[in-house]
Amino acid sequence: MRYKDLHTLSVENPRFFWRQRMNLIDWYEEPEKVLYEDEEGLSRWFRGGKLNTSYLALDYHVNNGRGRQVALYFDSAVTHTKRRYTYRELRDEVALFAGALRAQGVEKGDRVIIYMPMIPEAVIAMLACARLGAVHSVVFGGFAPHELAVRIDDAKPKCLITASCGIEFKNIIDYKPLVDKALEEAIHPPTSVIVFPRPHAKAKMLAGRDHDWHELMHSAEPADPVPVDSADPLYILYTSGTTGKPKGVIRDNGGHAIALKYSMKTVYNINPGEVFWAASDVGWVVGHSYIVYGPLIHGCTTVLYEGKPVRTPDAGAFWRVISEYKVSAFFTAPTAFRAIRKEDPDAHLKRNYDISSLRTLYLAGERLDPPTYEWLTQILDVPIVDHWWQTETGWPIVANPMGLEPHRVKSGSASFPVPGFKVEVLDDEGHTVPAGKMGNIVIKLPLPPGCLPNLWQDSDGFRKAYLSRFEDYYDTSDGGYIDEDGYVFIMGRTDDVINVAGHRLSTGEMEELIGGHEAVAECAVVGIDDQLKGQLPIGLVVLKDGVNVENEVLEAELIALIRKDIGAVAAFKKAMVVKRLPKTRSGKILRKTIRRLAVEEQIITPPTIDDPAIIMEIRTALRDHRVGQYANTTLGESESDGI
Ligand code: COA
Ligand code: AMP
Repeated sequence: MRYKDLHTLSVENPRFFWRQRMNLIDWYEEPEKVLYEDEEGLSRWFRGGKLNTSYLALDYHVNNGRGRQVALYFDSAVTHTKRRYTYRELRDEVALFAGALRAQGVEKGDRVIIYMPMIPEAVIAMLACARLGAVHSVVFGGFAPHELAVRIDDAKPKCLITASCGIEFKNIIDYKPLVDKALEEAIHPPTSVIVFPRPHAKAKMLAGRDHDWHELMHSAEPADPVPVDSADPLYILYTSGTTGKPKGVIRDNGGHAIALKYSMKTVYNINPGEVFWAASDVGWVVGHSYIVYGPLIHGCTTVLYEGKPVRTPDAGAFWRVISEYKVSAFFTAPTAFRAIRKEDPDAHLKRNYDISSLRTLYLAGERLDPPTYEWLTQILDVPIVDHWWQTETGWPIVANPMGLEPHRVKSGSASFPVPGFKVEVLDDEGHTVPAGKMGNIVIKLPLPPGCLPNLWQDSDGFRKAYLSRFEDYYDTSDGGYIDEDGYVFIMGRTDDVINVAGHRLSTGEMEELIGGHEAVAECAVVGIDDQLKGQLPIGLVVLKDGVNVENEVLEAELIALIRKDIGAVAAFKKAMVVKRLPKTRSGKILRKTIRRLAVEEQIITPPTIDDPAIIMEIRTALRDHRVGQYANTTLGESESDGI
């Protein structure tokens, strides 16, 4: 069946469509019902199905002739280490570590926090949790102790797994002191901490609580996969929302396994036995879905790369890895290629490597901006596929379906809705907008398998954040349009989330922190365009009356504050004092207007503004800091007193 017919079938008769795909995986017990409502009235997939995701990712392949195939290549450009694990070796390591976790009291349903760098033990820890039916929550290593503490208190884990350090370019980042600080701050710290010792840093251990990875492995008994229900959570992944409280996105076991398996062929056009590389981090959704679970469930070889696109050691790093491991499908964020282009504009370094194994390049995490797309088409002979998705969905919503029916690419568009997703564009009142007109991008309910069924212990928050604005639709908080040929263009967030180097961050959270500084009366944080990272946060600050502080001093304090509480990854490097912020006549800060001032040349001054002259001042101030027009132009809707 061709793409169009298949897509129509998937959205008009989702039960039938997904029943047909139910046997993509090896269930212990087949589901009795494809789609149903849980006790909270939320849609769920595959009731009655029993499975184990670690079994599907490892044992299934060992039992079916892939035991000696490489499951994972580890390539650390920062430590000059290379290692490979066959499916059998990885299965055995995972089974043993699952036994070690069990010995620490971890059982089905318990939460485990993983705060680790890009080393195989991070993957082993994730799969070991899955093996026991425990729920992992990986926290990206670039987050500060406070962020880790917030996630610990929400997930209430029994155990935390970490390593003695991460390595960023040449810098050793000691993880253990960060973990200790988070545990001091947390109200619900875990009783057990497991530390993987790396030779580059020694961790200080607390007797009774902290355990050495190797010592536990030494005395562990391997654990078999524990059957879980389809709807049981596999993991929680926290992602930035509009406030300081991150959202705990839940991924179930059954829908997730089916969706990822389906996507590997349909979207990524890759076959079992081939090499798939996602150059991301296990702390992000891309790492969960396409470094770990997707490629392994599909029987591919995955690559775990510890390094950067540039300066580890040079801008040829990606070409080297593709050539060395004969990568067929490669996936990264546009920002990585902007970094490469900056250092090697003519891609000279590519000539040193044979990258003929590469069939397709996939990009996501932010919009593939047309200049980067053009550059990539000039230096590569393979299709360049922009595809759009979110932590919430776990797999692509809009993509060029390369394994089904590749389509002509339109620069700036992620192409077409993937089967399972009915994507529409609505105006603020919920009416469908005509082709080519900008609006709110929404997905008709039910969301397909693999997407978040709920937020961790926060159904009200789930409904409020995603389901309440447009009846019968999931609100993506992205804006854009669908053209007359059906191509979907995602233009940017409509909320207080920005995208910095492919990392999703909340400006609302930064505002909460800056607003707490003793000199600050009020503030707004917005994303300004940046040629490398797509967007960078910038703070506009109004001082309290009578406060006398030098701008540079205040800026340095605010930068340190954000770095301490959110982490280096926020890349908050600019703050400036302004006399006032634009407000409505009733005194509400016009944040959306400020966001638009940061990215657009001309904006219509909202009729409700109290002092139109302030617009000019802010625009001039922002323009001085902005560098080029880039990918993540944040949209703003019309703003009134009521917003
Ligand atoms: N642990 C600790 N610190 C980390 C970290 C980690 N895992 N990841 C990033 N950081 C730190 C960096 O060291 C940097 O700190 P600094 O301010 O002291 O220099 C800061 O967080 C910002 O990191 P980043 O945004 O990654 O900037 P960079 O200059 O180090 O690298 C790129 C820029 C473009 C090369 C890099 O962001 C990149 O490769 N991005 C790819 C995007 C990606 O993987 N996206 C995931 C979704 S697909
Ligand atoms: P995350 O949840 O961290 O994966 O971030 C998801 C957000 O990144 C989306 O809501 C979009 O704003 C943005 N995004 C991801 N991929 C794309 C893409 N291909 N095009 C446009 N925006 C994207």
